[in-house]
Amino acid sequence: MNSPILTHSATHTGREVPEDTVDSLLSKMTLEEKIGQLQQVDASADPFPDDLIDGVRTGRIGSVINLAQTDACNRIQRVAVEESRLGIPLLMGRDVIHGFRTIFPIPLGQAAAWNPDLVREAARIAAVEARSQGVHWTFAPMIDISRDPRWGRIAESFGEDPYLTGLLGSAMVEGFQTDDLSGHGAILACAKHFVGYGASESGRDYSATNIPANELRNIYLEPFRRVVEAGAATLMTSFSDIDGVPATANGALLNGVLRSDWAFDGLVVSDWNAINELIVHGLCEDGRSAAAEAALAGVDMEMAGDAYARHLAGLIEDGVLSISLIDSMVARVLRLKQQLGLFERPYTDAAGFDPLVSDRALKVAYESAVESLVLLKNAGAVLPLREAQLGSIAVIGPLADAPHEQMGTWVFDGQKSDSVTPLQALRQQCSGKIQVNYAPGLETSRSRTHDLFGAAETAVLKSDVALVFLGEESILSGEAHSRADIRLPGAQSELLARIKALGKPVVTVVLAGRPLVISENLPNTDALLYAWHPGTMGGPAITAVLFGKEAPRGKLPVTFPKSVGQIPIYYNHKNTGRPPNASEMILIDDIEVGALQTSLGMSAFYLDDGFEPLFPFGFGLSYGHCELEDLELSQPEIGQGEQLKIRVSARNTGGRTGFETVQLYIRDITGSLTRPVKELKAFKRLSLEPGRCEVVEFELGAADLSFYRRDGSFGPEPGRFCLWVSTSSEGLQAEFSLGA
Ligand code: BGC
Repeated sequence: MNSPILTHSATHTGREVPEDTVDSLLSKMTLEEKIGQLQQVDASADPFPDDLIDGVRTGRIGSVINLAQTDACNRIQRVAVEESRLGIPLLMGRDVIHGFRTIFPIPLGQAAAWNPDLVREAARIAAVEARSQGVHWTFAPMIDISRDPRWGRIAESFGEDPYLTGLLGSAMVEGFQTDDLSGHGAILACAKHFVGYGASESGRDYSATNIPANELRNIYLEPFRRVVEAGAATLMTSFSDIDGVPATANGALLNGVLRSDWAFDGLVVSDWNAINELIVHGLCEDGRSAAAEAALAGVDMEMAGDAYARHLAGLIEDGVLSISLIDSMVARVLRLKQQLGLFERPYTDAAGFDPLVSDRALKVAYESAVESLVLLKNAGAVLPLREAQLGSIAVIGPLADAPHEQMGTWVFDGQKSDSVTPLQALRQQCSGKIQVNYAPGLETSRSRTHDLFGAAETAVLKSDVALVFLGEESILSGEAHSRADIRLPGAQSELLARIKALGKPVVTVVLAGRPLVISENLPNTDALLYAWHPGTMGGPAITAVLFGKEAPRGKLPVTFPKSVGQIPIYYNHKNTGRPPNASEMILIDDIEVGALQTSLGMSAFYLDDGFEPLFPFGFGLSYGHCELEDLELSQPEIGQGEQLKIRVSARNTGGRTGFETVQLYIRDITGSLTRPVKELKAFKRLSLEPGRCEVVEFELGAADLSFYRRDGSFGPEPGRFCLWVSTSSEGLQAEFSLGA
C-alpha cells in the first residue's frame, strides 16, 4: 500500500483546508492521475469489480456514479483515500431527482405548486437523506423547457415557462447546496441538460433539436442563466444535437455563453457516455477526436465513458490539447471536493443524520403532494366530498392502490413499502364511518381486458360516489419513455365511460408523468383532479383534498392539449402575422364538399381542433372562488430607472376558503425581434377566507422587460406593453409604455 501524501486529520474542518490544496495537489499529480480526476465511473455492480478497485487505487478514477449506501461508499472511499498515492477522495454522484428515500411529487408536479419554498425544502430533505448514505452530488435540477408532453422527460422538468423553471430550479439548487457546501447534509446540484434537450423533435427522446437562436437565448437558456446566478456548482451537457453541433461538443454554448458571458466557474460533466456518442452523432470520426472536441468545448468530466481515459494523454502529447487546459479541468474537480470538505471528512457516518423517511420528511412530502394537485373540473361542486352525507364510496382504477407507480420516474432509492396509496388513505379516512368498495376494474394502466369491469360496476352501484384512479404507470414517462399517443393507456377510457353510465357522481384522479390528452374523458367525470405522480404521501394528500380537509391550489405549469395534433402548444408563443381569432374560425363540419380554395382572411387554427388548448398554462381551480377586480397601474409610462406599480383586488366570492395564485403576464407589443404573446413575470399566492378581499401588488421595471435583442445585446426596448393580471394565463388587461 502506498502512503498518502495528503494526510487527513480528524481535527480539520472544511474552513481549515489550506487555500493552496488544489495547486499543491496539481503540482504533485502525474498526467495519469490528472486524467483520472476527469473520469466518472459506474459503480453499481456488487461486489465492486476488480478493475474499479484497481482504477481507484491507482488514481485513475475521480468520481463514481450509482452508489448510494453508506458502507459501500465508505468502502470504495477508503481505497481512494488510504490506498491511492495522493489520497484524493472520490466524488460520489447519484440521481436524486425528486427525493432520495422519501419521494416527493415528480418535478412537474412540484412545479404545479408554484411554491419555491416548498421545492427548496423538499430538496433540502432529499440532500440530507442522500448525504447520510454517502452521496455528494445529485444530477438535478432538470431545467429543460418542455413544450411537448410526448417527451417522457417532461416529468422531470418544471414545465414550459422559463421564469417559473428558473425560479424553481434555483430554489432546488439552494435546497441541495445550502450556502455552505461543507455544511451538514449539503450536496452539489447539477443543472441539466445544457441545453435544449426538452426540444427533442416530435417529443421523441434523444432526437435532434431545432431551436432558433432567439428562442435558444430567450427561452431555453434563460433558466440556466438564473440557476448559475443562484450558484449551481455543476452543469451537465445535453445528449442532443443542437443546430449541427451536439451540446457535448458545443464550445459556443459551453465556453462562450456559460463560462464567458455568465462567468460560470463550476464544473461541467457530460451526460452518460455522451462524449463517445459524438461519433454516433456523426460529428467525430473516433474516440480521440470526440475527446478533443468535448475538452475543447468545455466539458470537464466524462460520465460513464472512456474517451478521456483513453485519449487525453495522447492528445496532450501531440499538442492538440494543452496541459494548462487539463489543469484547469482538474482544478474544478478538486475545488469541489475541497468545498465539500471531503479532504477532511471523506467518510460518511450515517449516525450523524436523522433517520431516513423521518416524520418531518413525510410531512413535507405530504404538503408538497397537496400543493401539486390541480383541480381541473368540479361540476356541480361534487368536491369536496361531504363526509356526513356519504354511506359508501367506490374506489376504482388501476392506480388506486399502486405504491410503486405513484412514486413516478427517476426513483432509485425510494421504496414502495413507504408509499401510502389512495386506497390505504381512503380506508383510514372512512374507517368506521363510510363503507369502502374497492374494485380496480383493470389490473394495470395498460390492461385491455374488460374482465374486471363487471366487479367495478357492481362496486359503483352499491356506492354513493365513484372515485376513479386512472393514469399512467411510472415507467411510461421518464428517460427513453416517450409516447406518441398520450391518451389514457389500455382500456381506462372505456372503464370510465362504463362507470359514468351508471349515473352515480364520478370523481376522477389522474396519476401521470405528463399532461395526458383527456378530452374524451372529461365528459365522463364530474370532477377531475390531476395528481401527477405524487410520491410517498400521495394517498393522504389526495384523500385530504377529496374530503376538503385541504383545498386544491395547484396551477398548471404546462399547457394541456386537446389532441396530440395540437402539440407543441404553449402559452408563450409568437403572435404570427395571422393570429387565431375565435370568431373567424371555421369548423370542419361547416365546410361544403367541393368548396373552392380560399385562404383570404384565414388565421392560425386547426379546422378540427381550433387553437385553444384543453387547459391553459396557469389554470387550476380551488374550492373557494376568487375574482380579480380593480386593476390599477401607478402610471401609464415608466422611465428606464422607474418601477411600475400594479395593484389588483382579489375577492373570494365562494363559500369556502380559497387559494389563489395571482399571475402577472406582459407582452412587449413591438420589438426588434418578435416577442411572445405573453410572458409570465411574477406571481403571488394567496389564501382567502370567504367574502374577504385582498390587494395584491406587483412591481415591474426595465430589467423585467429585458431580453436578448436583435443585435445580440441584452436589455429592454422602449415602447408599448400589454399587461395581464389573472388566475391563469388569461385575464384582466391593461397597457403601459417604457420610455426611451
Ligand atoms: C440522463 C441524465 C442522468 C444520467 C445519470 C442519463 O441517461 O440523461 O439525466 O443524470 O443518465 O443517471
